[in-house]
Amino acid sequence: MTDCHGVGLVSGDSYRLLREYSGEPFCAVVTDPPYGIRIKGIDGKQWDNGFPHPDFWRELLIHTEDSGWLACFAGSRTSHRSAIALEEAGWKVQEIMAWIRPYAIGMSGGLKRGWEAIILASKGEPRKLNIDSARVCGDGLPRWPSQELPDNNRALAFQRGHPKNRRETRSPSSVVVAAEDAGLLGEQERFFIVARSATKERGKYNTHPSVKPVSLMEHLLTLVHRPGGLILDPFAGSGSTLVAAKRLEMRCLGIEVDKDYYEIAGRRLEEVQL
Ligand SMILES: C[S@@+](CC[C@H](N)C(=O)[O-])C[C@H]1O[C@@H](n2cnc3c(N)ncnc32)[C@H](O)[C@@H]1O
Repeated sequence: MTDCHGVGLVSGDSYRLLREYSGEPFCAVVTDPPYGIRIKGIDGKQWDNGFPHPDFWRELLIHTEDSGWLACFAGSRTSHRSAIALEEAGWKVQEIMAWIRPYAIGMSGGLKRGWEAIILASKGEPRKLNIDSARVCGDGLPRWPSQELPDNNRALAFQRGHPKNRRETRSPSSVVVAAEDAGLLGEQERFFIVARSATKERGKYNTHPSVKPVSLMEHLLTLVHRPGGLILDPFAGSGSTLVAAKRLEMRCLGIEVDKDYYEIAGRRLEEVQL
């Protein structure tokens, strides 16, 4: 177990660990489980042959606070099955967000996968999402880390509307896109813009094939977090959720079954400077 400024990482199988868990309920779960699309990275590992069973989501529901949120990534082709598994387990699906990734991995002879789903579900009636905290902020307002973007994109995010409203903010959208791609897609105001995951951010040593941008994880954490609450990522991978939580000074617990990814996540976590 690694513990770093309120962010903990456990090595093990989350199915088993959750069954044995008797600690504080989670205010929210933010996670990126296997999609069941047989991703095979350069490291040759195979952890993506299936996706979580309704029994797992049922167990997770037990350990989540009433009105708590789940933000769960899912593959474009298999997202319907993930959503049904969640509903079968008793979660209420509230929204399905799209993360657009034009640089997506291709399939030989098939369509390139240009988006991934983020299913937002709740335990019972949900508490309000933290929309105000997740708005794009202008100059003079508290800085939102994901808006540390190249100049033209920052201008795009900060200078909308009448000049007298420069300090106004933009509400988050259900469509998220990397800053570098927003210009290509046009009508930028329909999107929430995050920074793409650069090698520097992942760590050169990071061999995980499915690393999510930290700014995207920060955005999701901000939306679903309850102040003082504990967040869980039961499929931590190389630790992007944990890195984001540490940067935002949120309490978070991650579980990762693969020893190599566990080591990578621990190293990334330790490298975060507060
Ligand atoms: C899509 S990856 C997560 C990637 C992560 N979001 C990142 O940015 O690095 C899913 C991870 O879940 C892990 N995993 C699969 N089954 C698990 C289980 N039963 N318990 C804990 N971790 C598991 C896999 O080893 C894999 O690293």
